Amino acid sequence: MKQWGGRFHKAASASAEAFNASLPVDIRLYREDILGSIAHARMLARQGIIPAASARQIVEALGAIHAELAASPPPLDLALEDVHTLVESRLRARVGDDAGRLHTARSRNDQVALDLRLFTRAALVEQIAALAALQRALLERAAAYPDAVMPGYTHLQRAQPVLLAHHLLAYVAMLQRDSERLVDAYRRTNVLPLGAGALAGVPYPIDRQYVATLLAFDAVSPNSLDAVADRDFAVESAAALALVQAHLSRLAEEWVLWSSSEFGFIEIDEAYATGSSIMPQKRNPDVAELIRGKTGRVYGHLLGLLTILKGLPLAYNKDLQEDKAALFDAVDTVLACTRIAAEMVAATEFRRDRLAAAAEADFSTATDLADHLAQRGVPFREAHRVVGELVRYCLASGRTLAELSLAELQRFSPHFTAEAVGLRAAQAVAARDVPGGTAPPQVRAALIAAQHAVQASEDWVAARRAAHPTVDDLVARAWE
Ligand code: ARG
Repeated sequence: MKQWGGRFHKAASASAEAFNASLPVDIRLYREDILGSIAHARMLARQGIIPAASARQIVEALGAIHAELAASPPPLDLALEDVHTLVESRLRARVGDDAGRLHTARSRNDQVALDLRLFTRAALVEQIAALAALQRALLERAAAYPDAVMPGYTHLQRAQPVLLAHHLLAYVAMLQRDSERLVDAYRRTNVLPLGAGALAGVPYPIDRQYVATLLAFDAVSPNSLDAVADRDFAVESAAALALVQAHLSRLAEEWVLWSSSEFGFIEIDEAYATGSSIMPQKRNPDVAELIRGKTGRVYGHLLGLLTILKGLPLAYNKDLQEDKAALFDAVDTVLACTRIAAEMVAATEFRRDRLAAAAEADFSTATDLADHLAQRGVPFREAHRVVGELVRYCLASGRTLAELSLAELQRFSPHFTAEAVGLRAAQAVAARDVPGGTAPPQVRAALIAAQHAVQASEDWVAARRAAHPTVDDLVARAWE
């Protein structure tokens, strides 16, 4: 049964019908669609726009349809077109012609915008929850190795020693910004478009604020054309998700490197690695590689969404139907990657011996020796040159900087004192005692601050989950 058959003389070709249909993709929105319809029906009755008895029947039937769809996935009959018509046809099967009253003062254009906003806001909340769990895993690992020292890198060359905890906390900080961006996207997503009608508003005395309250929206959209044409919230969410995925891919790449024999910094738990079908000795970091590999499609979805909107005239255009496949896959992919990353991190054991050896090697305290001279009045550029010569001397004689005696050091500069002898990575780390630096007291403080930030994210998630109504909540609600 078409919603729009009245003015048509002939049926759509089966091929056009199949091409047009979005049901296989948007069936995923059945819960959101029913939630929105219940709120709309309750508002219509409260405003005296449809009879209260019809509204009660409709709401009860929608609750039953929701249970039915949750229990068994419906056949994807493409003639039904989309999820909105599927739900309406089931409603008609239950309540007869009264079903037709539900679409008073509503269009599929504002309906689909509503459904997608309900979906997106819930997805943002679950993504923030997953980020908090990954942050918790990183914080737990950081706390488990409070004094482990490792090489910090620039250009993937060993540069200066850092605490392993400091390195892990760098990821916690990135993910914290991600959560903040997602919360910000939520703010602009959580706006009610319903009431825009097809594009111009509706000629009924509707109460948009009441619908917003039922559905826990923070605001109602200020312009009906914009309300049905706007998918900025999807783009913003996809952009924030793309950046999450960028961060996950950086972490994944380090896990791949660190698990190699060349680094040997970590053992990826066997539960998150796989063997090779031909090389019996292999233990491959597939989970990390896949996280890295899935990044391309997430970026692709962002570009896809942006391109759908490019040059699109106001207001609703069918092009917008293409938004869902992109957004759904971006949401699913990033959520799955975040969750598996949390498991993988939690199951990672770090090899302190390998980290420590690497942290001492390759003249990692060279900057500290230069700083030693600079702190004793030598201009830093001059100190840099002196230590460069020291490194050359060590390379030629097969020594390390820590092995040089004071007499040897003083041959290169008379400003060296006993404190420069036998300098170790742990001292280099301890010296960087500035806010945001890698010295143990700074890292301890940063760890505590990060725990508070993650707790705040978790509290936000709990509050939003509690605020979002379920279908059962809205069915059971007293009539006003
Ligand atoms: N399936 C459509 C979509 O996803 C729903 C809105 C259809 N509106 C219309 N006027 N054809 O965008």
